[in-house]
Amino acid sequence: MNNLLMEVENEIAVVTINRPKSLNALNSETLAELDACFSEISERKDIKVVILTGSGAKAFVAGADISEMVNATPAEGRKMGMLAKEAFLKLETMPQVTIAAVNGFALGGGCEISMACDIRIASDNAKFGQPETGLGILPGFGGTQRLARLVGKGRAKELIFTCDMIDANEAYRIGLANKVVPQAELLDTCKAMAEKIMSKGSYAISLAKEAINTGTETDLSSGLTLEADLFGLAFSTDDKKEGMTAFLEKRKANLTDF
Ligand code: HXC
Repeated sequence: MNNLLMEVENEIAVVTINRPKSLNALNSETLAELDACFSEISERKDIKVVILTGSGAKAFVAGADISEMVNATPAEGRKMGMLAKEAFLKLETMPQVTIAAVNGFALGGGCEISMACDIRIASDNAKFGQPETGLGILPGFGGTQRLARLVGKGRAKELIFTCDMIDANEAYRIGLANKVVPQAELLDTCKAMAEKIMSKGSYAISLAKEAINTGTETDLSSGLTLEADLFGLAFSTDDKKEGMTAFLEKRKANLTDF
């Protein structure tokens, strides 16, 4: 991989988008590498949480690579959008929990990839925005869809129509960021949250993730039926037996299913 770094330690994978000279802008090669990386991770049982971040202290990801897009044809633009669609859907639906460690600018495709993660933790210097309409295009890596779902249509339209950049505290206020921390504490905060999540039932969490992701895209009754189905499935696990027995025996549960 030319543009990504991955380190796995204690069942946590830290994936770093590593093109600091262009503020980690996403070109086609990086998108293809992300796609392959997410495919690999989703098959790995030794990774339970993924932390996605950008290289350097300035940017998470400053967007799709404008120098690649400037001369792209409509067909090439669509191909790029579809490549990101597939890669970001893999990220969004993998059984592992995904945390975006937003360490600086998260603009355009950068804001969009962060929104395909389950949780966004922002450093205090982070800035979020969808500047595409100022470039004569529109968000093409999910921004019109995921931003509206996360913060509501009105706020999504305001951000996309004005191209305003918002700081980490504003992102927190509108529900785009889950937490804001000093930059020096960003990775440790993400890892601490990962440890807490991994102390619960990982398989149960993957089912809850599926219920939330699928359920919020369907009507309430179908979502509730899916929840009941997955709830029933969880009753087949060793973790369910261990978790409930441990509670009744007043001891800490040792949950291992994934
Ligand atoms: C390519 C980029 C880039 C990008 C920054 N760079 N963002 N290259 N694509 N998205 C490059 C700059 O050209 C520059 O290269 C180097 O990174 C440092 O950036 P500067 O602009 O010099 O830094 P600064 O003045 O601090 O400004 C930081 C910034 C600005 C505010 C983040 O770089 C910026 O506005 N970037 C573009 C943000 C953007 O519009 N993103 C949305 C892209 S469209 P050199 O060689 O000069 O040092 C998008 C669409 C997704 O994401 C869907 C597509 C289908």
